[in-house]
Amino acid sequence: KHTERESLYIVLNYAKTFFQDHMLKTDEGRGIGLSYFRERGFSDPTIAAFDLGYSPDQWDALLNDAQTKGYNPELLSKAGLTVTREESGKVFDRFRGRVMFPIHNVSGRVIAFGARILKVDPKAPKYLNSPETEAYHKSQVLYGIFQAKQTIRQEDVCYLTEGYTDVISLYQAGIKNVVASSGTSLTIEQIRLISRFTQNVTILYDGDAAGVKAALRGLDMVLEEGLNVSVATFPNGDDPDSYVRKVGAEAFKAYLSQHTQDFIAFKTAALLKDAGDNPFKRAEVITEIVGSITRIPDPIKRQVFFQSTARQLSVDEQTLISESNRLIRKQH
Ligand code: CTP
Ligand code: MN
Ligand code: MN
Ligand code: MN
Ligand code: MN
Repeated sequence: KHTERESLYIVLNYAKTFFQDHMLKTDEGRGIGLSYFRERGFSDPTIAAFDLGYSPDQWDALLNDAQTKGYNPELLSKAGLTVTREESGKVFDRFRGRVMFPIHNVSGRVIAFGARILKVDPKAPKYLNSPETEAYHKSQVLYGIFQAKQTIRQEDVCYLTEGYTDVISLYQAGIKNVVASSGTSLTIEQIRLISRFTQNVTILYDGDAAGVKAALRGLDMVLEEGLNVSVATFPNGDDPDSYVRKVGAEAFKAYLSQHTQDFIAFKTAALLKDAGDNPFKRAEVITEIVGSITRIPDPIKRQVFFQSTARQLSVDEQTLISESNRLIRKQH
């Protein structure tokens, strides 16, 4: 007798294979799903490394196939693979006519799916994701961690992106130490998952206002967990996936090495952009930076960052330290 979670893993793995087979072995799948991924530049080995697939554009293709193979419909529902319409009680497949991104846990088990619509349409969500289930706790998962973990250890840094396709494109470009928070705002549990493999995080969020805002919030959380954090930003409108496709793998790596900033330089630049020459706003920026440094648990690291901030922003180090102490007192 399997535990419930074990049964979910089995049915989720079956569904993964169903979506893969449908994409690779049917005319509909090859014509729509596989050609979608190929147009995005994903090679066959990359498609295989991430178990990508396609869900048939029918109401109950998975449900019917699963039942002929003896899977309990109740289990499909508990795995988030089917939904039940409230009024009629009718059961149908959750994922239909979408390209499928299986989400693996750290040991490589499929625990959920992300599913992208083929053509962006304001009437439907671009991505549809599995609900929370006994196997999938969204806040604890990082997309790509299974494929990335070994390289994260070797390179001693983890690149943190926003989306599924950022992870996949960078992996294909030879940058395999990449994960995505997948649209959710970064959580403490996700940072702790990274910290099993490295203490160094580089944030590579999308080059738009939302990406900068998410990076500012994310870096404070990473600091608070005691990890080191840097940020690289992309030209407006680009994300890591679109940028690496545009410039190629080598230029992308060169861009990263030239544009990765420590969190102080990134935060200063992001906030000063709006402050201009206004001295009150500049003072606020300094207080903000002190706020981030104050989150660092290690007093020696804090000291080092106060020194470099004092130098970079031409302020007295002692002033920064007393401001930090004031912030700490305010918290208690
Ligand atoms: N996301 C989601 N639901 C949406 C939109 C986004 O879950 N309706 C998540 C997905 O994990 C997505 C990530 O947020 O990968 C980042 O969103 P976005 O930047 O909009 O998508 P991209 O990953 O860039 O997707 P694509 O390149 O396919 O458009
Ligand atoms: Mn649980
Ligand atoms: Mn985005
Ligand atoms: Mn994108
Ligand atoms: Mn994006």
